[in-house]
Amino acid sequence: MRIDILTLFPAMFSGPFGESIVARARANDLLDIRLWNPRDFAVDRHRTVDDTPYGGGTGMVMKLEPLADCLEQVLATGPKVSTVWVTSPQGELLTHQMVLETAQSERLVIVCGHYEGIDERLHALYPTREFSIGDYVLTGGELPAMVLVDAVSRFLPGVLGDLNSALADCFSDGLLKYPQYTRPEEFRGLRVPDVLLSGHHEQIRIWRRKESLRRTLKRRPDLLDQAVLSPEDLRLLEQVRTEEQ
Ligand SMILES: C[S@@+](CC[C@H](N)C(=O)[O-])C[C@H]1O[C@@H](n2cnc3c(N)ncnc32)[C@H](O)[C@@H]1O
Repeated sequence: MRIDILTLFPAMFSGPFGESIVARARANDLLDIRLWNPRDFAVDRHRTVDDTPYGGGTGMVMKLEPLADCLEQVLATGPKVSTVWVTSPQGELLTHQMVLETAQSERLVIVCGHYEGIDERLHALYPTREFSIGDYVLTGGELPAMVLVDAVSRFLPGVLGDLNSALADCFSDGLLKYPQYTRPEEFRGLRVPDVLLSGHHEQIRIWRRKESLRRTLKRRPDLLDQAVLSPEDLRLLEQVRTEEQ
């Protein structure tokens, strides 16, 4: 996948994109990440990218001219895109579904906001879609852009050793994942649940499903309203509800 990120702070990406799974995906040509700085498109002596807000008030607003020139150069090359993603705390909350849909695209273009945000007319000029990573305000859109790229990357064939591990993670079936354990069998008096040591695949499958339902019920009951539950799930959920009373 080709990914273009417009940011005033490209150096922020070197750590997260230079380590671990994303770095390996880049080295294997599975991810072609290009960073663009709108400041390089500012034409005045001071290479200005922000200005004071019309109407007064605190802070600065990202100017349109350098950003539009930068974005137009980005869009003029490579595969066509139907969506320009823009970071914003006022955007749609990023969800598993949005990540999956984005992973189907050939290309991802992200504009990172900064200061008090971007001149609103950006949205009238380009097919933008704003996304938020949560109901809190960050200093800039760089971390949200990293979050989107990281989450999308996991669903690109070849990026994870086994794509099935992403497909078995939280949210893939609408539920939270069951608890996981590794060696040793006992640590400071805490034992791994016996069923996981039994080697009995069917019992392990049922235990995991039940614990997945238990976690979801306790931590994110809202997810249960949307999840597609089988008759077995409903039976297990009933057991969990009784046990938790
Ligand atoms: C300080 S924030 C601006 C907040 C803006 N004045 C407001 O109240 O909506 C600067 C930039 O960081 C990014 N940002 C901050 N919080 C974010 C979040 N939760 N999700 C996505 N982007 C965020 C956006 O690009 C935003 O334009």
